[in-house]
Amino acid sequence: MAIESTLSIIKPDAVENNKIGAILNLIEEAGLKIRAMRMLKMNPEVAGGFYAVHKERPFFGELVEFMSRGPVVVSVLEGENAVAKYREIMGATNPAEAAEGTIRKLYASSIGENAVHGSDSLENAKIGIAYFFPESEIG
Ligand code: RTP
Ligand code: MG
Repeated sequence: MAIESTLSIIKPDAVENNKIGAILNLIEEAGLKIRAMRMLKMNPEVAGGFYAVHKERPFFGELVEFMSRGPVVVSVLEGENAVAKYREIMGATNPAEAAEGTIRKLYASSIGENAVHGSDSLENAKIGIAYFFPESEIG
């Protein structure tokens, strides 16, 4: 297996609920290394640009409003199979369908407000990392 980098975003709901530390703990306990980290607040243009792939979906407006309503913690995670491993510990998009012990099962309240983002492919990980860490040598 290859060492990969993936992008994580702790979303505004989880930041509001004081779950930054708990989520970072689950990430580290899973064996993923935190290689870069920023706290920032996206404006709607930045949030919409990041999720541009979803711009025709009915939930796009809500998604942009949600992702830009407060600060987020964006990080680069590194490890063997990091893209798939992080998606596994995140759990399903809809927390009602997420496995026990996953971040979304523990800390998400709905399909829209679901605590974390994780890249869904190596290609999208590279795009996401470049979006938030343009100066970084990591990626
Ligand atoms: P993410 O990109 O944030 O890691 O989430 P994901 O891959 O599990 O799900 P995706 O299909 O990429 O959807 C992106 C985000 O849009 C919001 N969403 N709302 N109301 C809805 O039906 C709905 N569906 C998706 C969620 O915040 C989801 O994580
Ligand atoms: Mg996605």
